Amino acid sequence: MGAREKSSLAVFLGFLFTFSLLLCMAKGDVHAYTLVLQETEFERLCEKKSILVANGSFPGPTLWAHQGDTLVVTVVNNGNYGVTIHWHGARQMGNPWHDGPEYVTQCPIQPKQNFTQTVLLDKEEGTLWWHAHSDWSRASVHGALIIYPKPGNEHPYKHDAEQTIILGEWYEKNLTEMVINAMRTGGDVNTSVAYTINGQPGDFYQCSKESTFRMVVDPGKTYLLRITSAIMNEEMFFGIANHTLTLVGMDGAYLEQVNTSYIMIAPGQTMDVLVTTDQEPSRYYMLGSPFVDTQAPTDRTTPSAILHYNGGYQLLHILIYTLPAGQIRIC
Ligand SMILES: *[C@@H]1O[C@H](CO)[C@@H](O)[C@H](O)[C@H]1NC(C)=O
Ligand SMILES: *[C@@H]1O[C@H](CO)[C@@H](O)[C@H](O)[C@H]1NC(C)=O
Ligand SMILES: *[C@@H]1O[C@H](CO)[C@@H](O)[C@H](O)[C@H]1NC(C)=O
Ligand SMILES: *[C@@H]1O[C@H](CO)[C@@H](O)[C@H](O)[C@H]1NC(C)=O
Ligand SMILES: *[C@@H]1O[C@H](CO)[C@@H](O)[C@H](O)[C@H]1NC(C)=O
Ligand SMILES: *[C@@H]1O[C@H](CO)[C@@H](O)[C@H](O)[C@H]1NC(C)=O
Repeated sequence: MGAREKSSLAVFLGFLFTFSLLLCMAKGDVHAYTLVLQETEFERLCEKKSILVANGSFPGPTLWAHQGDTLVVTVVNNGNYGVTIHWHGARQMGNPWHDGPEYVTQCPIQPKQNFTQTVLLDKEEGTLWWHAHSDWSRASVHGALIIYPKPGNEHPYKHDAEQTIILGEWYEKNLTEMVINAMRTGGDVNTSVAYTINGQPGDFYQCSKESTFRMVVDPGKTYLLRITSAIMNEEMFFGIANHTLTLVGMDGAYLEQVNTSYIMIAPGQTMDVLVTTDQEPSRYYMLGSPFVDTQAPTDRTTPSAILHYNGGYQLLHILIYTLPAGQIRIC
């Protein structure tokens, strides 16, 4: 056996050892997922632009598991720079080498390379999310991670259906270059030019009205909104015109329920919220509004989506709504 064969054998045995060790640590069901990272072109705010995303979508695909399950995720990096993927809110006890923070517990996955990571879920239950953890790449590479109760267990609340809502941002220029530039000059990274709800800025931005995200609902039902903020730096208020939100969970854990007309969600946070479609059938705005407490340049725009009741009704208005830091908008 030559030195080369010996070293490949060693690599193979090392791999086998690590893999069997991880499978021994794995509990619950094992879910295999693949995420393919690639620069993909999108049109927003009247312009086309490529951003790095997972599986061609912004936000990326939703992954799911039951409480205590294990995810085995192969990340294929077809982008142009190295990134890692972080499992935000999964405690990953004893498994830091698969948890993502670049140059802290993991080397970046280089372009044209794959990395298979094992994510050990434990007591987390509710909504978490995954995102890139290299510079500001999390702005475009992210998605929800839904953790259902163990089979046979119930949620501690009743609901008829669920919807994932991801609050995000749209930047005008190449974000990687903006960050490199800011590091070089000591300046700030330019703010985003839009906030998004499930990838869409909504009715109050140029060239966006056609693609505003709509959640179509039936009257008299209760929906679980799994809300994640993938926004880099700003806290956001979020509410739905004329509808009460019942907060039931946060960051992958249940909460004592709280009724509110809006929430305030921080970057990286997730909130599970129930909304009952008990209002007159119509279309109601879901609005975001950034919390602004500074004179510094901030994206102060208003993202929107529409809660759209099914059924025949005469639509007079899309009902508007005012959030604390927002402005009244008449359409
Ligand atoms: C992502 O895309 C790859 C390649 O098309 C596919 O095999 C994989 O199932 C997709 N992953 C998810 C979570 O949808
Ligand atoms: C953004 O900038 C980075 C760093 O220069 C580069 O690798 C990447 O390809 C650029 N992306 C686009 C879509 O231009
Ligand atoms: C990465 O995975 C893909 C899909 O499984 C495969 O086609 C490709 O050869 C792999 N690349 C590397 C560098 O292992
Ligand atoms: C940042 O914003 C300033 C002011 O609007 C603009 O002059 C500059 O070109 C922007 N830089 C980048 C990298 O987007
Ligand atoms: C919706 O809320 C607005 C503002 O609070 C109120 O003026 C309006 O009457 C409400 N509409 C309905 C149908 O409840
Ligand atoms: C929240 O409001 C709903 C409907 O109005 C009510 O049934 C429920 O008891 C309230 N929950 C709390 C915690 O106040």
